[in-house]
Amino acid sequence: MKNIGSYPNVRLRRNRKAEWSRRLVSESNLSPNDLIWPIFIRNGKNIKEPVKSMPGVFIYTLDQIERLVEKAIRKRIPMIALFPNTPNSKKNAKGSEALNKNNLVCRALRLIKKNYKEIGLMCDVALDPYTNHGHDGILKKNYVDNDETVKVLVKQSLLQAEMGCDVIAPSDMMDGRIGEIRKALDNNGFKLVQILSYAVKYASNFYGPFRDVVGSKKLLKSNKKDYQMDFSNYKEALREVALDVSEGADFVMVKPGMPYLDIIKLIKDNFKIPVFAYQVSGEYSLIMNGIKNKILNEDAIYESLISFKRAGSNAIVTYFADQIVDKL
Ligand code: PBG
Repeated sequence: MKNIGSYPNVRLRRNRKAEWSRRLVSESNLSPNDLIWPIFIRNGKNIKEPVKSMPGVFIYTLDQIERLVEKAIRKRIPMIALFPNTPNSKKNAKGSEALNKNNLVCRALRLIKKNYKEIGLMCDVALDPYTNHGHDGILKKNYVDNDETVKVLVKQSLLQAEMGCDVIAPSDMMDGRIGEIRKALDNNGFKLVQILSYAVKYASNFYGPFRDVVGSKKLLKSNKKDYQMDFSNYKEALREVALDVSEGADFVMVKPGMPYLDIIKLIKDNFKIPVFAYQVSGEYSLIMNGIKNKILNEDAIYESLISFKRAGSNAIVTYFADQIVDKL
């Protein structure tokens, strides 16, 4: 950096002297347009079940969904993401409930799309909410078989698109799935259905509370290290993104969020594609518990979200979406 001058001519605190001045020189901004709100859904009637490990987050029955969608639309949140809490009785080794057109996600999609066109609907593509072993794909000799899994993911994507999903979000980390899903969507009249690839998804310890909700935590006997990325790596992230871009992804996601801001910046600096961040369940719980126990103040939420914008995220999937939107 040249010509930065020197003290006492230069006093960087001058621009910070008043709130109006700090606003003038602010480099990052958070608006409702940046938010994607994940919503957990379950079977039953008239239930708003608190998630124990995520204070302030609930699992809703479908009769509550329209109210939530209306809230999101009113607050100008552009997209919600639906995640199912599937009963164990519907889980099996192949995760076949994923392909049931009356599963929770499909019913929610139909219900929402019937009345609301002005909000984006995003759905995960992966089998972990539906398998009795908690893995994202089909197991063969205790190894998630890539190509067999991709075949099922293609079917799951087509079904979700048919039910009204706008953004197909494969979170499984199988090789080659973006290209196969793109091809199938195009061949079946879904040329404008977008793909948000969880391109850089790490085998992280921050997914615990989410796995509790979708019910895969207790079922998962091992870990996902032979498909999700090693958290020591960054060069590999560039390869993952390059492949997904070439296979036709419309946006790419980095996940988790805050421990991986370097990766967001790296991708932003190397590609033109929109980059999203997922502030995952464990990150949410850490911050929320800090606030609940008066260790942090509430502005920590805003600070955490601005960090994603500063790093270069176009949007953020966050369980804080509905709370923070009122403060923007
Ligand atoms: C499923 C999936 C996971 C998350 C989103 N989709 C968990 C996992 O891969 O085990 C985590 C989200 C969160 O922790 O908030 N493939």
